[in-house]
Amino acid sequence: MAHLQAAAVEKINAICDRYVNETTPLMMILSDIQKEYGYIPLEVQELVSARTGVSVADIYGVVTFYSFFSLTPKGKYVIGVCLGTACYVKGAQQIVDKFSEVIGIKPGETSADGLFTLDALRCIGACGIAPAVTINGKVYPKLTVDAVPKIVEEYKAMEANA
Ligand code: FES
Repeated sequence: MAHLQAAAVEKINAICDRYVNETTPLMMILSDIQKEYGYIPLEVQELVSARTGVSVADIYGVVTFYSFFSLTPKGKYVIGVCLGTACYVKGAQQIVDKFSEVIGIKPGETSADGLFTLDALRCIGACGIAPAVTINGKVYPKLTVDAVPKIVEEYKAMEANA
């Protein structure tokens, strides 16, 4: 989506028009665009701004505030490590560090092969199974540091066999 093609422009305008009768349509528009394309770069924000009249600054503020919106393409497998209080006290920082070490990326980054994105999250509402990790929505409860390399290997193997 680096250079927007006519079809993408049309699609994004159509998404904006879906919510034309809503009083606060921005979240719904951005959610739909995130689901459709996986990220919301600046040029798309400008397009949404032109179509809706909401300033680019406001749109940028929303996109960067909520962790489920992204400015850049995400990896095929998005690993979310909860760093909320309950998970943090149960060693979530060591888990995020281990994912960083094994994959070779920092939180917020995507691996060069496009396979993994590592995200540090606020509480995901699963404190009872802390420390909690999600990978593309699948929850890994009470994860240990030792389990991290094996999980990464499983996803790599899945990819190799795809
Ligand atoms: S603090 Fe991690 S799920 Fe609540």
